[in-house]
Amino acid sequence: MSASFHFLLLLLSCRGINTKDPDPTPPPLVPTTSLPSDVKSVVLKGESHVEKVELLKPVNLALECTWTGNQNKLPNITGYWRKDGDEIENSRLTVQLENGQYNLKREFRIVDEESLGNYSCVFDSEAEIHFILAVPQMGEERDKPIVSYVGDSVVIACKMEETKPQPRTWQWYKANGTDKEPINADAEPLRYEVKNEAGTAGKAGKTMLTVHKLTEADSGSYYCGAVYDIGISMSHVELRVITFLQPLKPFLAIVVEVLVLVAVILLYERSSSKKKSTAGDGMNADQANKLTQGENNGMEGSSTMRQRKV
Ligand SMILES: *[C@@H]1O[C@H](CO)[C@@H](O)[C@H](O)[C@H]1NC(C)=O
Ligand SMILES: *[C@@H]1O[C@H](CO)[C@@H](O)[C@H](O)[C@H]1NC(C)=O
Ligand SMILES: *[C@@H]1O[C@H](CO)[C@@H](O)[C@H](O)[C@H]1NC(C)=O
Repeated sequence: MSASFHFLLLLLSCRGINTKDPDPTPPPLVPTTSLPSDVKSVVLKGESHVEKVELLKPVNLALECTWTGNQNKLPNITGYWRKDGDEIENSRLTVQLENGQYNLKREFRIVDEESLGNYSCVFDSEAEIHFILAVPQMGEERDKPIVSYVGDSVVIACKMEETKPQPRTWQWYKANGTDKEPINADAEPLRYEVKNEAGTAGKAGKTMLTVHKLTEADSGSYYCGAVYDIGISMSHVELRVITFLQPLKPFLAIVVEVLVLVAVILLYERSSSKKKSTAGDGMNADQANKLTQGENNGMEGSSTMRQRKV
């Protein structure tokens, strides 16, 4: 009992010392010795090359660059490394020409999402090889939003192609303006439901997010994340929640247009038939009959005269 308490105290004090440490980087979760090692080598003849490296787990990765060089074949050149465009400190060194080629090699501890990225070896600012270290990427994103109605449910799905290493699990996010906020379906079972299907060899793993009782506030950017030990691969889906009236709008516009058109035609008809009725047209025979015979005759006479003139 007291022994474990002491142990706990010891642990706490260790933590205390750690936080006082000027170096803010947390202690590695996996000791270097137990990290598996891997090597990626590229031989470059031209000026640049891009090598994509898919990673799933933390690894001690040695990157090897070989440049067969320019025409000058200088006995030595300067070489250095860049990460995401920034020169890596203390990576500059003189590279000797050996067997007509220059070699540059460096080991990197790739343990988390931060350490993934774009690693470049640079030879004398003349040639460079970019190693793009990333988790497996999902296929092309759908560029059209998913459209659904207020009050309905919608299912958004994501999958990792069967040819690629399958993720450990999945996580959904919703963009809230500044961040991607993780969706916790268990905490909001009435709003969200998540179903995952594990991928196996030859079968794509997938995840389905159901959003229930949609409101217009559910519109926005959703992200599905395929979770690997080393990082999360993201894919983006846009959701638009609309009311039932919205798709009717163009239809309603046409209906209104038709109604206006019909009204205009009717008005025109009426006004022109009024003119004609005063002229004692056959259509308005009743009306014409009500008029006194004399008036009628006189008007008819003048109108036929007018009509004939036309
Ligand atoms: C690099 O080569 C130059 C000649 O181009 C030579 O003078 C210099 O000593 C060499 N430096 C090293 C470190 O080998
Ligand atoms: C990798 O970084 C270099 C700069 O060091 C940049 O020119 C290149 O476009 C980047 N490649 C990718 C795929 O991001
Ligand atoms: C967005 O989500 C992040 C992460 O959960 C949270 O810290 C932040 O406060 C949220 N911002 C808004 C505007 O809700």
